[in-house]
This record gives sequence, structure tokens and C-alpha cells, in this order.
Amino acid sequence: MRLLITGGAGFIGSAVVRLAIARGHEVINLDALTYAACLENVASVAQSPLYTFVHADIRDRAALDRVFAAHTPDAVLHLAAESHVDRSIDGPGTFVETNITGTYNLLEAARGYWQAQGRPESFRFQHISTDEVYGSLPADPMVKFTEDTPYDPRSPYSA
Ligand SMILES: NC(=O)c1ccc[n+]([C@@H]2O[C@H](COP(=O)([O-])OP(=O)(O)OC[C@H]3O[C@@H](n4cnc5c(N)ncnc54)[C@H](O)[C@@H]3O)[C@@H](O)[C@H]2O)c1
Repeated sequence: MRLLITGGAGFIGSAVVRLAIARGHEVINLDALTYAACLENVASVAQSPLYTFVHADIRDRAALDRVFAAHTPDAVLHLAAESHVDRSIDGPGTFVETNITGTYNLLEAARGYWQAQGRPESFRFQHISTDEVYGSLPADPMVKFTEDTPYDPRSPYSA
């Protein structure tokens, strides 16, 4: 498959990029290279013919449209995010811009692309979020979050 992975220079995104390439998938790694990025984490695959890096920002809708048109992905794995809780308390603005508006931009760009492609049933958009949307678990290890757990965010990040 040809995978558009956002945030592929981040902590979890870079592991997803490496795993996807190890499994023979083509990867387009779209990342704005914020303070959280570390391209060294994908250095081991950077020379692979399966790997392409695109320096772009998910807040830039026009750039996203260009990436979809140029690279025609089969699926999107969306990991680009502002992800540090303490920073969201000090300055929530960039969290709103990237995690909410940026995700909306990516969804809209993906929808436009999917429609232009004839609405292929196999197309997938996977958004990697966080269990922090469910709040805090009690110490009892038998208590788990489920898909029916009500949202209970405790920071601008988890909200
Ligand atoms: N790290 C964890 O322990 C953890 C746990 C649960 C869920 N998650 C979720 O997984 C996802 C990825 O987390 P992570 O730890 O890899 O984050 P990270 O902060 O390490 O990396 C985020 C990446 O996104 C990029 N990015 C940020 N803003 C961008 C923008 N506007 N446009 C394009 N790229 C942008 C950054 O440059 C960086 O490479 C997040 O949604 C996070 O909530 C992380």
C-alpha cells in the first residue's frame, strides 16, 4: 500500500514509518518539523526507494491538496499533533490550530481526494489519538477504558 503518514518524524510516527517500510509499504512522511520532530528517528529508512519525505504543515490546506494529488495514497495514518500536556496548559492555541483545525483540514483534503478517485471502498483514514480523552484510570489494573467510556479530558491537549 501507499501510506500517507503525518507526523512521521515524531516519537510514535517515526516508529510507524519504520514498521510500514519494513513491511514493504510505500510511505510519504508529511511533517512540519516542529520542535518535537527528530528526523534521525527515520534515518534508517531515509534512503529507501519506498520512502518520501514532504515538509508540510497540516494547517495548510492547499499544501495537503497538493500532496494527495501528487502522491495518490491508498490510506492515511494521521499522527501529526501537538502532544505535550504541559505545553497545552501553557499555550493551548497551537493545540487548537494543529490538533483540531489541522485534523479537519486533513479530513477535508482526504475527502476531496477520495471523491475525485471515485470513492474507493478500500481507502482508509486512521486518526491516532490518545486514551487521555477518557481522563484518568483508577489504580486498579482490572479497570480499563472501552470504546463506550465517556470522554473526560483533563487538559487542553486531551480535550
Ligand atoms: N507519545 C505517547 O506516549 C502517546 C500516547 C498516546 C497517544 N499518542 C498520540 O500519538 C500521536 C503522535 O504522538 P507522538 O508522541 O509521536 O508526538 P510527537 O510530539 O513526538 O510528534 C508529533 C509530530 O507531529 C509533527 N507536527 C506537529 N504539528 C504539525 C503540523 N501542524 N503539521 C505537520 N506536522 C506536525 C511534529 O513535527 C512531530 O514530528 C498524537 O496524536 C498523540 O496524541 C502519543
